[in-house]
Amino acid sequence: MSTPDRKRWTASAHERKVENLYSGGIENYLDHHNGYLNFGLWENGISDYVKAAENLVQRMGTILGLNETSKLLDVAPGMGTQDIYLSEKFAPRSIDGLDVTWGHIEHGRRRAREAHREDRVSFHHGTATAIPFPDNTFTHVLSIEGPEHFDTREKFLHEARRVLQPGGVIAMADFIVKRPPKNLIENLVAEAARSLWKVPRANVYTAEVYSQKMQSAGFEKIAIKEMGALVIPGYYFEQMKPETIRAIARIRGFMLARLSLLLDVAVYRGFTMGLLEYVLVRGEKAQAV
Ligand SMILES: C[S@@+](CC[C@H](N)C(=O)[O-])C[C@H]1O[C@@H](n2cnc3c(N)ncnc32)[C@H](O)[C@@H]1O
Repeated sequence: MSTPDRKRWTASAHERKVENLYSGGIENYLDHHNGYLNFGLWENGISDYVKAAENLVQRMGTILGLNETSKLLDVAPGMGTQDIYLSEKFAPRSIDGLDVTWGHIEHGRRRAREAHREDRVSFHHGTATAIPFPDNTFTHVLSIEGPEHFDTREKFLHEARRVLQPGGVIAMADFIVKRPPKNLIENLVAEAARSLWKVPRANVYTAEVYSQKMQSAGFEKIAIKEMGALVIPGYYFEQMKPETIRAIARIRGFMLARLSLLLDVAVYRGFTMGLLEYVLVRGEKAQAV
């Protein structure tokens, strides 16, 4: 079938490696975890994965301040479930999702069709570092667990600023470094998490550096809140359940499922060792001078 809006990355492109990582068995994904890939926000006694995932999306919509006049760009929306949720709960005028994984775009378009929201929720194949929209298009930009992958996060921040209207809001759920590894074991854990997860070295830095990079890209009123304790353990224990392990093996295949299990362990250990943190980030595009 011809897919004119599918991009082809060069063999050495970082985007190709990320797309390969997420494409394994993607056609089998269907409704496992309702299509959510995020870590979830496990607060107020939530013990169900989909509820935790929706709680995180709800928090991001609230941080952004979405309402019925908003034009939202969601960069790295995964399989699109979060945009159907945001469309139903916050009723923005439009949502455009931009993801590097073609299989995710197909799932997102199917979901928008099934929810009868194709007129308000659209999905595009492309990369966060070359956003295919003109300057000043959106009132809000969102990225949930995408920015760590982007080559680089800094380039994405510049692109996000460009496509946002003055005063527009950006919100991200992301990962930062808390402290450098101190010994061989810590180095191995940190490097395993980084390379298995296709995180460019250039994206590995602290909240302080993150904030400076946002400022240099033209954002102000920057807030970075550490949330790891309410996010990482809940996700880890969900992924370690035998039924989740079996489901991922059915979807992704044995090898990829083992790899993703290893990644879950590396991220969890990185967090418990105090090497990495999960953060919610907000900023506003400075008004034109
Ligand atoms: C951990 S998943 C999160 C997906 C979704 N936000 C969710 O929480 O369910 C990371 C997503 O980032 C996307 N991604 C990675 N690099 C990207 C890039 N350069 N541009 C756009 N999307 C990208 C992947 O395809 C994947 O959908």
